[in-house]
Amino acid sequence: MKKIAFLGGGKIGRNMMKHVQENGKAEVAFVYDPFLKENDLNGIPVVKEVTDEMLEGLDLVVECANADVVAQFMVRVLKYTDFMPFSMTAFRDDGLRAGAEAAAKEHGHMVYLPHGAILGLDGIFDGRSELTEVTVETIKSPASLGRADTEYTVLYEGPTRKAAELYPRNVNVHAAIALAGIGFDKTRSKIIADPSVHTNTHLIHLVGKGIDFTIRVSSFSEGGVTGKYTPLSACGSLDRVLGGAGFQFV
Ligand SMILES: NC(=O)c1ccc[n+]([C@@H]2O[C@H](COP(=O)([O-])OP(=O)(O)OC[C@H]3O[C@@H](n4cnc5c(N)ncnc54)[C@H](O)[C@@H]3O)[C@@H](O)[C@H]2O)c1
Repeated sequence: MKKIAFLGGGKIGRNMMKHVQENGKAEVAFVYDPFLKENDLNGIPVVKEVTDEMLEGLDLVVECANADVVAQFMVRVLKYTDFMPFSMTAFRDDGLRAGAEAAAKEHGHMVYLPHGAILGLDGIFDGRSELTEVTVETIKSPASLGRADTEYTVLYEGPTRKAAELYPRNVNVHAAIALAGIGFDKTRSKIIADPSVHTNTHLIHLVGKGIDFTIRVSSFSEGGVTGKYTPLSACGSLDRVLGGAGFQFV
């Protein structure tokens, strides 16, 4: 059976761990989360540090903590095994991305990039050579953005690289689209706080030679950074990475 580990045991991590325990596709060796009070999550050991010995023999490490944890662990993990990050804003650092690509090739491992809160990253990646303009607009409640605005407020409009620096917890969708498409400087981001909504809504427009796509995704928000859809999406991505037999959308 495959052996996996998690960095971060919050909303996304706990959903994936429960899913893996229920479907029995893998054994979870540990969850690294120095901020959890529990010693285990449903029998999965919670650890406060990760040694190289703990990485040896794993088939996959899943990050669901924050962008700093991706920066801290990605290249190191790739020496030993595959890596699946959810905090996509980490990729605003071109040096980190290049280092991870080099480490993955050197050690023969994969970085699996999950679609997370958005749909169609694979399709965007496939069409990237023809794309000329990509815009991403996100509307969230002020609480989801860690704010207390009482009226509709445009917080940011400009290149995705700066959006990812200013709102690393909130614009993972923008970062994922920039990474799959035309990059963090050419992709344009708009971030709006709207006290009248309880949803995370992303409106994506992609234009290129013979291409005009609009993707609108809206997912109920329970207050944190992650909407209703992402845990489902995360479990689907994990299943695809772990493999098996049957039908699979590619
Ligand atoms: N790719 C996407 O579309 C997408 C969508 C939603 C959320 N996210 C991102 O995924 C990540 C996890 O989201 P979540 O909703 O589970 O968040 P969460 O706040 O529920 O959980 C994060 C967990 O990480 C832990 N943590 C914090 N600092 C840590 C550190 N230095 N080392 C290890 N663990 C640490 C926290 O204690 C917490 O348990 C966030 O970065 C979030 O922005 C990505």
